[in-house]
Amino acid sequence: MSEHRALLSVRAAFEEAGYTVEGVRALLGPVAGGALARDEIVPACRATGDGGALAAFVRLFWLQVPVPADVPAADDLVAAGLAERDGDALRPLLHVEPLESVTGLGHAGWAVSDLKVRPGSGGTVRPDHVVGAGGASASLARLVVHSPVDSVLDLGTGCGVQALHAAEPWVRPRPAAITATDVNPRALALASMSFALSGLDGVELLAGSLLEPVADRRFDLIVSNPPFVVAPEGGTRYTYRESGMPGDDFCRRLVLGARDHLNPGGHCHLLANWLHVAGTPWEERVGAWAEESGCDAWIVQRDVQDPAEYAELWLRDSAEAGTPEYRRRYDAWLDSFERGNVTGVGFGWITLRRTDAVPAVRVEELRHAVDQPVGAYADDVLDGLRAAREFSTGWGNLRTADGVVQEQLGPPGAADPERILLRQTTRLRRAAGVDTIEAALAGVCDGTLPLPRLLDAIARLLGLDPSQTEAHAAAVLPELVADGFFTVVPPD
Ligand SMILES: C[S@@+](CC[C@H](N)C(=O)[O-])C[C@H]1O[C@@H](n2cnc3c(N)ncnc32)[C@H](O)[C@@H]1O
Repeated sequence: MSEHRALLSVRAAFEEAGYTVEGVRALLGPVAGGALARDEIVPACRATGDGGALAAFVRLFWLQVPVPADVPAADDLVAAGLAERDGDALRPLLHVEPLESVTGLGHAGWAVSDLKVRPGSGGTVRPDHVVGAGGASASLARLVVHSPVDSVLDLGTGCGVQALHAAEPWVRPRPAAITATDVNPRALALASMSFALSGLDGVELLAGSLLEPVADRRFDLIVSNPPFVVAPEGGTRYTYRESGMPGDDFCRRLVLGARDHLNPGGHCHLLANWLHVAGTPWEERVGAWAEESGCDAWIVQRDVQDPAEYAELWLRDSAEAGTPEYRRRYDAWLDSFERGNVTGVGFGWITLRRTDAVPAVRVEELRHAVDQPVGAYADDVLDGLRAAREFSTGWGNLRTADGVVQEQLGPPGAADPERILLRQTTRLRRAAGVDTIEAALAGVCDGTLPLPRLLDAIARLLGLDPSQTEAHAAAVLPELVADGFFTVVPPD
């Protein structure tokens, strides 16, 4: 039986058993599910002892423990190369996990990757290890805009997770053409299994580095969870996370190269690490990438780690913690950061949109929880940046964004607040301290009346000079528009 036919039978068995994130969550419950998220499998082993088909698939492919060989589609699992027989048992050869839609409602396919090497398992990670879909993969998938697209490039596809999300029917009609690239041939082989298992036919698979395999080609959407880890030279290089390029150069080169590979209006989303170098604010360094990209750019720092935290994180990730080499590798990491004057490493999201106008750029830090999926409103964020740049009080009407509330802060019983805050209860959940003029505006802006008329009325109500009120509004409103508190309703 061909591997492809075997994968189709496996898919039918997975569907029949309900091997989806929803099914697994219901089977494990919150305690075992929470432990598994911390890579602890004991509670999940206890929760999957019922001998049913779903429990067997979870044990075999998620917990990676042998199961009796009477699981459904056992012959097909072996023929597809997902498992092997060992006497009366089946052992997993690969990790196979279901994917949840970025909307949180629905199933998005199955991703095939190398077996997870769990901390303390004694296993080692091979240099060409193909990593499964993790938290970073999911956060990138949720960042991707939801607009329909014809062509998609998943750069550094690994197990194929981003291509699968780009094609999920819960978000957009299936794109006509999907291209997945990777420098690691093993990744392309496993991605191809993920696509067959998930019923995603016709994905073009190309081997090669960065944008080389797609020279002279353009796409509506480029998605990349790249090998962004900044590691010292020498020692094992893990392809799934390190490009071999110096510092954060892979991400910089992708940002600078994206525009030439995007159709007009097309988007590129990537996760990235960037170095914090002593003497240069990180926003300036990464802002220079954004300016040079020639695209509308929204760059968000979600986390920063100091050099020691960073080295520890990635040594744990490759199961090197506790090995004899650990201290030497840790030392080498710190040495290389010291040589480069690196004080920390930022992690974040980069969204680019090809424009033929002067690009709008924002580089910012957002460490708090925001509404997901961000892709549902990422275009509105870029539109807000553009509108803010073009803003003048005479241009278009303003509308207070949905979900904005006002908070007044001051001592209990005081007649007047000391501070007024506008707070977003949805989307990016920002808060901004404002003056009574902006607060009054937020109360009346519904997009129907010209801004100068509203400002004039507010000035009279508050006993202020109308021209000073307008000048104040002209100075502060662009930032509030860029932050999404107000949207501009352009003139007809
Ligand atoms: C962090 S993994 C991402 C896998 C998957 N796309 C995801 O979202 O989880 C990075 C992928 O980039 C690939 N890669 C490494 N160096 C590359 C290069 N120079 N050009 C293209 N891909 C590369 C790795 O083989 C790996 O599959």
